[in-house]
Amino acid sequence: MVPAVEMRNINKTFPGVAANRDINLQVMPGEIHAILGENGAGKTTLMSILAGLYHPDSGQIWIKGHRVVLKSPFHALQAGVGMIYQHFKLVLPLTVAENIALGDRRIKRFFSKKRLEQSAADIIKEYGIELDPRQVAQQLSLGELQRLEIIRVLHRGCEVLILDEPTAVLTPAEASELYALLKKLAQAGKTSILITHKLNEVMEVADKVTILRRGEMVGTFSTSATSVSTLASLMIGREYNLDEKGPPFRGTSTPFLKAQDISIIGNRGNQAVSGADLDLRRGEILAIAGVAGNGQRELLEGLAGMRRIVSGRVTLDDKDITDRSVRELQQMGIRMACEDRMGMGLVGEFGITDNLILRDYYRESYGRGFWLDYQSISRRAARVVEKFNLQPPDLNRPVKLMSGGNQQKLMLAREIEENPAVIIAAYPTRGLDIAAIEAVYHMLWKEKERGAAILLVMEDLDEIMRVADRVAVMYRGRLSPAYDTGEIKIEELGRLMAGLDRGDRDEAN
Ligand SMILES: Nc1ncnc2c1ncn2[C@@H]1O[C@H](COP(=O)(O)OP(=O)(O)OP(=O)(O)O)[C@@H](O)[C@H]1O
Ligand SMILES: [Mg+2]
Repeated sequence: MVPAVEMRNINKTFPGVAANRDINLQVMPGEIHAILGENGAGKTTLMSILAGLYHPDSGQIWIKGHRVVLKSPFHALQAGVGMIYQHFKLVLPLTVAENIALGDRRIKRFFSKKRLEQSAADIIKEYGIELDPRQVAQQLSLGELQRLEIIRVLHRGCEVLILDEPTAVLTPAEASELYALLKKLAQAGKTSILITHKLNEVMEVADKVTILRRGEMVGTFSTSATSVSTLASLMIGREYNLDEKGPPFRGTSTPFLKAQDISIIGNRGNQAVSGADLDLRRGEILAIAGVAGNGQRELLEGLAGMRRIVSGRVTLDDKDITDRSVRELQQMGIRMACEDRMGMGLVGEFGITDNLILRDYYRESYGRGFWLDYQSISRRAARVVEKFNLQPPDLNRPVKLMSGGNQQKLMLAREIEENPAVIIAAYPTRGLDIAAIEAVYHMLWKEKERGAAILLVMEDLDEIMRVADRVAVMYRGRLSPAYDTGEIKIEELGRLMAGLDRGDRDEAN
């Protein structure tokens, strides 16, 4: 059989980094092929080359047995290769039907709205996906947006679908739907290449897996003939302990940060948080579980002073802090790392140094009179780079050129480095490779031992059980009581996440 895609001896260097070195990749038609590797290993670069976004310095690309030179993403799509990026290229104010029609020459611009919707409905049906053609893209969930993006690419004749960490932003249920879709496409002879950090996902959905390490190829393996722990050690290049637990809770039981009956309004004027009670103690990690969009983000933003608390009361060490500004809260030691690395968190054009001072430019230690003291700022930046092993360790290189995992570490490092009393973080390990996840856990565990009160919003229940001392679940703006992670089962958390009670035996209470 002729491979659907073959990349031969691909090399790509960016200033100072050999992102891909002599990579050989072969993917057969109808195969689901995972690409695995640490942050910065060169996965996105390799796939961007296949999608026509980057040009390799050397090497060849063969599609269905023909040598091609891909000049642009449009050109790659003509050759049958389409990539789904993490930031969807959809036009949000338009409907599903209009988005599908965009740039599709078969659907004429003078089509009536009805006809447009009909042809979109046909296409959607062809792939057996659930989507309403009349719905405005803005109202879709992330999972739906992703399906729409996939349909668009497929509809333009794509035979090889590349997905870059497609489940990083999906709920577990949405991820399962995506796996089902990929398997269905595979049966229809389409090929999928999936970049992912989730080893379980590789085992569940992929036929083959190619591992990259520091720009080089480790090898391609059949998932049926390997295991999660083998993949982990091949990826990292050494043995790996994925079950290590954090230090036990040694704090006092007095609440430090306390929210009483607080309500918060969301962006759409909706009641995002309704009467939530929360106690956070020093020296503990409290995780909030739940399907994204149930008010977790608003709750964190409210506690960090980024969103107004419309009723109820928040206290820190018994002092009322309900209406304090972000800056006042920061000065009291409450620090928050955002969900969105590039939106709210970091400025992509700036280097590490400038991103570090971004938030603290008003701090006295930086000022020398009127001017910023660049020497002490650079010293601090160098310290952060070393302490948290940020790669590459170049202080002035735009951070948008760093890999996702390193950006995430930088964002957390910026907050943690200040020895805050309270650390609030949303999805601190999203998009990270297993080594970076461990690094982030160790950062948090160290803070916990120092006595920081840590509040995390997380999705993965296995991770929550491993990292957190207590866990509460958010569902439709309501926050459950917090349970000790040692005393609640994953299934019980799943029930709470779906809006049910904890379990049958609790019904009497
Ligand atoms: N446009 C660019 N300019 C300069 N350097 C880049 C560019 N894109 C990537 N790099 C560098 O190339 C290396 C590989 O990056 P790449 O984004 O391919 O990694 P990755 O495996 O996708 O990582 P992650 O899992 O974090 O997404 C990194 O060191 C990165 O900093
Ligand atoms: Mg990447």
